[in-house]
Amino acid sequence: MEKLDLKKLPRHIAIIMDGNGRWAQNKRLSRVKGHQKGLEAVKEVVETCGELGIKILTLYAFSKENWRRPREEVNELMRLLQRYLVEERKELLEKNIRLNAIGDLEDLPTPILEILKETVEMTRHKDGLILNLALSYGGRSEIVAGIRKIIEEVEQGKISRDDITPETFSRYLFTRDLPDPDLLIRTSGELRISNFLLWQIAYTELYFTKTLWPDFGKEELIQALLEYQRRERRFGLTTSQIRGSFTPA
Ligand code: IPE
Ligand code: IPE
Ligand code: MG
Repeated sequence: MEKLDLKKLPRHIAIIMDGNGRWAQNKRLSRVKGHQKGLEAVKEVVETCGELGIKILTLYAFSKENWRRPREEVNELMRLLQRYLVEERKELLEKNIRLNAIGDLEDLPTPILEILKETVEMTRHKDGLILNLALSYGGRSEIVAGIRKIIEEVEQGKISRDDITPETFSRYLFTRDLPDPDLLIRTSGELRISNFLLWQIAYTELYFTKTLWPDFGKEELIQALLEYQRRERRFGLTTSQIRGSFTPA
């Protein structure tokens, strides 16, 4: 069996956790059961990333568009989020994990937002894995919000128009302190991005699997990492440049 090269791991993994509903449907269970099982997969993947020494794991947990699902399903997803944020506190602290969240967080029900803030605050000083939850997240909204902020600062004279570059613009996004994902995984067989990290994935390696999210775990994460390690990231350059001394910014 191929072995993982622990020196060539992605710094930042992002995952579109899709397929909970279909997993449940295949088993003649309610969609809610699928989400509950999906939470178990979250725990396993977070633990594995921690063990491997991955620096950042961004999980697409709830999109801006997901608010339009049936009310009972949205309520259940919020309930699960709340449970996770409270019940996992001890685990996060023990495993040296720092929680972060991106998205239009003010859309969340107030009690959940408060709990989220508390958990983020409690883990603020941890320096292991950064677990970055995308909640009420939409890539286009994020970019538009960034543009608004940057216009405001230009108008106030804090920065000039010429200061706006791809690098500076990145600092106006929710992910301002984080490097772009090296690897993006989507489960459930859908071959689309669904408004996730549109700006940040310009040079991310994409990995799609038919596995439904509740069935995803340590083993398949390692498969994805092995596949990542077989890829050559060229960033627009040639192979010989890449094999030489070039290091991406
Ligand atoms: C992913 O599973 C969870 C969320 C989007 C919150 P889905 O609920 O989208 O499952 P499918 O795609 O209907 O199978
Ligand atoms: C993407 O899954 C959002 C999350 C995983 C949270 P969806 O199930 O909402 O995406 P579409 O609707 O199939 O594109
Ligand atoms: Mg889906």
